Amino acid sequence: MSLEERLKQLEQLRRQAELGGGKERIESQHKKGKLTARERIELLVDENSFEEFDAFVTHRSSDFGLEKKKYLGDGVVTGCGKINGRLVYIFSQDFTVFGGSLSEAHAEKIVKIMKAALKTGAPVIGLNDSGGARIQEGVVSLGGYADIFLLNTHASGVIPQISLVLGPCAGGAVYSPAITDFVIMSSGTSYMFVTGPNVVKTVTHEEVSSEELGGAEVHASKSGVAHFACDTEADAIAKAKRLLLYIPQNNIEDPPTADNGDSPDREEAALNKIVPDSANQPYDIKDVIELVVDKGSFFEVHEMFAQNMVVGFAHLGGRSIGIIANQPAVLAGCLDINSSRKGARFVRFCDCFNIPLLVFEDVPGFMPGTDQEHGGIIKEGAKLLYAFCEATVPKVTVITRKAYGGAYDVMNSKHVRGDMNYAWPTAEIAVMGPKGAAEIIFKKEIASAKDPEAELKKKTEEYRAQFANPFKAAERGYIDDIIEPKTTRARLIRAFEMLENKKDSNPPKKHGNIPL
Ligand code: HXC
Repeated sequence: MSLEERLKQLEQLRRQAELGGGKERIESQHKKGKLTARERIELLVDENSFEEFDAFVTHRSSDFGLEKKKYLGDGVVTGCGKINGRLVYIFSQDFTVFGGSLSEAHAEKIVKIMKAALKTGAPVIGLNDSGGARIQEGVVSLGGYADIFLLNTHASGVIPQISLVLGPCAGGAVYSPAITDFVIMSSGTSYMFVTGPNVVKTVTHEEVSSEELGGAEVHASKSGVAHFACDTEADAIAKAKRLLLYIPQNNIEDPPTADNGDSPDREEAALNKIVPDSANQPYDIKDVIELVVDKGSFFEVHEMFAQNMVVGFAHLGGRSIGIIANQPAVLAGCLDINSSRKGARFVRFCDCFNIPLLVFEDVPGFMPGTDQEHGGIIKEGAKLLYAFCEATVPKVTVITRKAYGGAYDVMNSKHVRGDMNYAWPTAEIAVMGPKGAAEIIFKKEIASAKDPEAELKKKTEEYRAQFANPFKAAERGYIDDIIEPKTTRARLIRAFEMLENKKDSNPPKKHGNIPL
């Protein structure tokens, strides 16, 4: 065969590979409101940057007549491309081929790009749309999953891993996205569960739809499995691209910078008025964040989950930072099981990838109640504490109002290696709130007073005047400075600049034992 003929043959094979499971199945995919594996990649990467690997791979199975059903690529498109000029490795499952199910060959393709990503220090983005294990292949398919899980684990903390779930993702298949750093789901077209509605009905007699059991909203707001729920696939892909703007390629790089020209000296008079005079009145910590960081750069993560804690990325003086903030507008900003888990996971991601941490603190303490205690708030709260304790990236805290009890220690206090700890003059740093404190330490006086209520009020005010302020902590050096709120941006930019070359480490060990 001449070269020309070979090239023609090659071209034909490429066209065949591009068609995946064929025109009809592509139409059926579109009818479900879903894009194909290749259309998704096109939206994700810079134009003409995608380099496909293994387009001609087929499965090797001959059970159930499978030898007569072979599709080039075997249900997953893999390769590398560029996003905003930076290298990423990608796998995109093709539902038109055996429902995107995972065969031995399909798994090998994913493993290949993951290994390449690890070798070259680039993120992996997985686009999941699959009926799970290729049923006809049996245990070989399960082995393929396990190979991926192992690599997900090895890559964790070395290269960023982002999962988009844009179709079914069920059974053990959910555990690959679950190990990755971020899960982005498309509303109405994706679902994730360990056992589907039919099994649930058989075992627990509950009637539940796929959407109710494991749709995007459920995972973004209730379970916390998904970090983002997006209206369309295009939105989901756009989220992944934006996320990459804040994170480095790997754990030995610094995050990228992005100076949008916002003045580092910008003062915000509004910040001087944001904390209400009454300690019990809420305000929105997101207003504080927006006013402090580079204009328009705040990118919230896990927005719908545990809203008493706000986490997300931003640029500050062009530097990428991770923000962890108590939200006084929801549950008074208290720490509970979900917000502790949410915060801990985010702190650990940032620490893995050299992203400095900024904490805004306004926390009345841990959430009381049997639900919380029996649900393990001790262990879950300890996760957040552990995460801050082990983090060695630059860590800066601003206490805007309450910093009470154990929550004061947890939220990146000086004692857990906060590098720069600031307080606004409105800060109240003490063992507990003034009323609770007065009730305990002046119990006898209050009980024997003529008017116990008035006495409690008086003692509460006494305690507030003496302890509910930032000065006691500043006397000890637990607070490095008390700053005027409107100058916060300039002070923080200077702090992170000062910490640019910070080096810190933990004692050598195989790995720690975070309270799981
Ligand atoms: C082989 C599969 C498949 C699978 C779907 N297909 N799932 N082929 N193995 N797991 C094929 C179908 O035969 C069909 O082929 C095509 O994909 C599209 O499937 P449909 O059922 O027509 O599509 P739809 O109605 O949209 O339903 C999608 C679905 C359903 C909900 C995903 O296909 C389904 O329930 N599949 C089985 C899911 C499952 O039980 N998987 C195993 C889970 S256990 P044709 O030729 O008609 O186009 C597991 C363990 C992993 O995954 C463990 C890891 C540790």
